[in-house]
Amino acid sequence: MTRPKLSRRAEQLNPFHVMDILAQAKALSRQGRTIFHMEVGEPDFATAEPIISAGIEALQQYSTHYTPALGLPELREEISGYYERKFSLQLDPRRVIITPGASGALQLAMLCLLDAGENVLLADPGYPCNRNIARVLAADAISVPVSAENYYQLDASSAAQHWNELTRAAMVASPSNPTGTILPREQLESLCQLVEKKQGRVIVDEIYQGLVYEQEEYTALQVSNECFVINSFSKYFGMTGWRLGWMVVPDYYVDAIDRIAQNIFLAPPTVSQVAALTALQTETQVILDARRDEFRQRRDFLLPALEQMGFEVAVKPQGAFYIYANCHRFTDDSFSWVKRLLIEQGVAVTPGIDFGSHLANIHCRFAYTQSLEILQLAVDKIDAFVRT
Ligand SMILES: Cc1ncc(COP(=O)(O)O)c(C=O)c1O
Repeated sequence: MTRPKLSRRAEQLNPFHVMDILAQAKALSRQGRTIFHMEVGEPDFATAEPIISAGIEALQQYSTHYTPALGLPELREEISGYYERKFSLQLDPRRVIITPGASGALQLAMLCLLDAGENVLLADPGYPCNRNIARVLAADAISVPVSAENYYQLDASSAAQHWNELTRAAMVASPSNPTGTILPREQLESLCQLVEKKQGRVIVDEIYQGLVYEQEEYTALQVSNECFVINSFSKYFGMTGWRLGWMVVPDYYVDAIDRIAQNIFLAPPTVSQVAALTALQTETQVILDARRDEFRQRRDFLLPALEQMGFEVAVKPQGAFYIYANCHRFTDDSFSWVKRLLIEQGVAVTPGIDFGSHLANIHCRFAYTQSLEILQLAVDKIDAFVRT
């Protein structure tokens, strides 16, 4: 029988290699093995109680209809107020667009900025979906290798080197996934200057905002009003399953994005939007900040433990909940190595290859989205593995 035809984009879309790891981890769990999950990119905490209560109440009040495509006006205003409280920034709520997760925002940004054949610059290593979203749109993603020297972040000179006549945007994430590193403000300033001169746009993914451990945080909106700034209720707010994010764009793009959102998503989820009003309240943030402090404790435990075993981490991760470790002392094929780590010791981590190709075979990502007790057990297992 001939296989039904798939679109070329469906054929060519890359899966995450970590999905193989996850499937194997599940199979091992079914056999009764204990698995230590350090591959998961979401907080282990359940959504905070006040947000859950607000969601239940929203349902009881029948908040079950569509909202405008750009989101509930009250939420757009509340987010504008959030920037004022956190960064003393005045932001016209019209520029705030509510989306189905940061994922929805990334799609809207690329749909709005890129035509087929045009391209966006991305850091390698970086968040893998960006590359794939660009490809689905028949656009190109140009991977720019980044290293410890520039905090694993794009900078103006590497962006200038890779920019061509079909480049429309440069995309950064700060803190970054997988490295947890922050884009220094001056580095973003010079990147914005370059990109604005080229009449492109900088897309700044601030999804891990709020999960920053030492430095004072800034937002790209303090650097330039020309950026697309993406954020989400998934990580700091602990609402991954509620599928809600937002994006702040220059006023000029709002109407176009409204048209695209109407057609692609119709509207972001209503119950989640009502609950998000509570997520943004100062009282809720007391709970969320305590969780952030717990993440920091975990990083402070895990980072030296990995270094002691022989992993190298060239830049101390300042945010998110990841450690991107160089494992060249143990392997030059990190994908096979993480598979063996899972089978032999029951520890699941993400291979470097999921984040790009630059030195991917000697890196892997550890997520500290587990309690300190579990991390301690996992560390003992990893230690036993690297000693064999
Ligand atoms: C850098 C980055 N951007 C975007 C996303 C998508 O998040 P969500 O759609 O849940 O907001 C993730 C998820 O892990 C991420 O790490």
